[in-house]
Amino acid sequence: MQNTNPDTILIIDFGSQYTQLIARRVREKNVFSVVKPNDVNIKDIKNINPKGIILSGGPESVSNKRKLQVSKSIFNLDVPILGICYGMQLIADYFNGTVISSTKKEFGHTNFVYNKTSSLFNHINLKKKLNVWMSHSDNIAKLPKNFTCIGSSTNTKISAFAYENKKIYGLQFHPEVTHTECGNIIISNFIHHICKCKKSWTTRNIINESIQNIKNSVQNNKVLLALSGGVDSTVVAALLKRAIGKQLTCVFINTGLLRKNEVNEVKFNITKKLKIKLTIVNAENIFFKKLRNITDPEKKRKIIGETFIRVFESESKKYKDIKYLGQGTIYPDVIESSSDSKKSDVIKSHHNVGGLPKKINFKLIEPIRNLFKDEVRKIGKTLSVPEELLSRHPFPGPGLAVRIIGEVTKDKVAILQDVDSIFIEEIKNQGYYNQISQALAVFLPIKSVGVMGDQRKYNYVVAIRAVNTIDFMTANACELPYKLLKQISTRIVNEVPNVSRVVYDITSKPPGTIEWE
Ligand code: XMP
Repeated sequence: MQNTNPDTILIIDFGSQYTQLIARRVREKNVFSVVKPNDVNIKDIKNINPKGIILSGGPESVSNKRKLQVSKSIFNLDVPILGICYGMQLIADYFNGTVISSTKKEFGHTNFVYNKTSSLFNHINLKKKLNVWMSHSDNIAKLPKNFTCIGSSTNTKISAFAYENKKIYGLQFHPEVTHTECGNIIISNFIHHICKCKKSWTTRNIINESIQNIKNSVQNNKVLLALSGGVDSTVVAALLKRAIGKQLTCVFINTGLLRKNEVNEVKFNITKKLKIKLTIVNAENIFFKKLRNITDPEKKRKIIGETFIRVFESESKKYKDIKYLGQGTIYPDVIESSSDSKKSDVIKSHHNVGGLPKKINFKLIEPIRNLFKDEVRKIGKTLSVPEELLSRHPFPGPGLAVRIIGEVTKDKVAILQDVDSIFIEEIKNQGYYNQISQALAVFLPIKSVGVMGDQRKYNYVVAIRAVNTIDFMTANACELPYKLLKQISTRIVNEVPNVSRVVYDITSKPPGTIEWE
């Protein structure tokens, strides 16, 4: 989608939990944004040809000798630069200001008095003080030469600075979070007025450019689309259908690791609602065979990713001239995989990217690779993808396999499908489904004693989990009403044979993840 080079803001990531949020805020203002890790080289930056650069926050301190850095050549590119939190401190450090570790740390809300004449604070006519969101322990004690202080907070004298002639700015607080008053105006001032980006990143333009790009790359060839039935691949199907019509062949692999009734629902949505031709491949036995005796979560992911591709390859041999494999990879998968590969603490490999075998016989076509989930949903809506499909909770690529702790078997999948279906049905019936970001059930490899009627039972334990999150990088367990939880538990124990106990997972992310494996 970058072929036509929309005006772009480059975000350099120093490990802040808010990096993706910055990128989304920029896009919400109709400007394209790209996130790159801090060690991106200057040649790549020049290829991106950004109209402006934002340096993210991060957990590091610039006084650390092995601090995360970015190529200093960015300051010679003659594009505006905005440093946020760590990004601001790094600018101060590079320009010989003084950054100290302060005893007066600031976390949370604070008052910020700003200089109205700075171009960063244009159009803020509300009042003198803004309520802003801080999260730092280092401070800028002395301004670098040529920089002026353009704002102070309760505890920090230099909370914002500017080198107006070179259009370099720094903010100690986070304009990207909703808790910061007028944060939106500040970001808009930077991208629209200082960087002079055009507002060209709109749903209509994204669809048109995407369709044009698909046509240009695919030409007369055929595309095989790996449909999972989730939001992403369904939107890809709708886009591909618009772009290449009958050259598209959709294949849905039944891995046996799907939700209850998923196969029929996908069939209905794709063939009846979207009127796209679909082939269903029943490959459950192959997947269960490959997963036999496998208990390690990462191994499960790799095996499923690889088996998936192999099944597709053999399926594709049935069609002539298929050259491309369509995939519903989205931008957070790409960002996470690129930073995962560098960091030692890889959390998990993602099915779409990390789990893909190195050698595949298709060229990949990934039309939504540059998009965030909310953008994918907007596109889906414009392309008439059914609303209930767009508002579905996410479901992991490896399916129920990563919700079954230990070895995956058909019996366990059947139990988990029943549990999951009751859980989802109840939260839908009680009106909670759309207030929850993701709800799931987990099969535990332990048994527990119970009594039903007069009989003593020794059956499985399942966990249920519902979380709320903005970006799936951090999440909180939902405080579901006790009455609802009790109703769900009663139904599960009564209706699912072999389950005698239900527990509710209240762990946040971090330290937990959303999925259990
Ligand atoms: P975690 O468990 O890492 O999950 O907190 C974050 C989000 O990603 C989904 N997830 C996956 N999606 N392939 C996917 O396509 C995977 O292997 C995978 N693992 C986790 C998870 O359901 C949640 O929405």
